[in-house]
Amino acid sequence: MSEIDWEIRPYEDSDAAAVDALLRAAFPSDAEAKLVQMLREQGDAEVEFLADAEGEIIGHVMLSAMQSPEQCLGLAPVATVEAVRKQGVAGSLIESALAMASANDWRGVFVLGDLSYYERFGFEADAAAPFETAYPKEHFGFALLDEDEPVAPAKADYAQAFSAL
Ligand SMILES: CC(C)(COP(=O)(O)OP(=O)(O)OC[C@H]1O[C@@H](n2cnc3c(N)ncnc32)[C@H](O)[C@@H]1OP(=O)(O)O)[C@@H](O)C(=O)NCCC(=O)NCCS
Repeated sequence: MSEIDWEIRPYEDSDAAAVDALLRAAFPSDAEAKLVQMLREQGDAEVEFLADAEGEIIGHVMLSAMQSPEQCLGLAPVATVEAVRKQGVAGSLIESALAMASANDWRGVFVLGDLSYYERFGFEADAAAPFETAYPKEHFGFALLDEDEPVAPAKADYAQAFSAL
């Protein structure tokens, strides 16, 4: 797919099947598709955006409430359809999600993944280092959303649904 028109928009309930199909295609197992459903069911899905190419869902991102620290979110998963990759679709999804989190007064966002990609959005391993986690430190990043509102070091605990992964 090249030269496509797409826009970022909030998720709606009627998008559930399309998102499910996208996640099942983007990841090796159905774990992420199930995770997203469970996060919604358990009321932890706080920010959810789609990339919509004239009715076709080509990307998705979710931010869910962490159990700890308070007022913090975890970014996971993010996925785009293979045919549109490396055109900035995931980047736009992540930027929109972070802007919404900031507008809704969330204090910070954690991510687990390749920080050479996520650091362009403000995620830093150094900023995540004070938070207790079993995840490898070099893959664990934190983006503080408001420089004037630091988040006190605490255990970094994702939403309940992540323990099923
Ligand atoms: C990871 C993933 C979401 C990235 O999606 P994407 O839409 O390709 O992301 P972007 O286009 O924003 O950025 C990806 C790359 O394209 C580059 N890029 C962005 N816009 C570009 C443009 N206009 N021209 C050329 N390259 C561009 C970025 O610099 C980045 O390159 P780099 O990582 O090699 O430095 C996608 O590959 C995916 O769905 N993978 C499977 C699911 C997965 O593993 N998700 C992550 C874990 S939850």
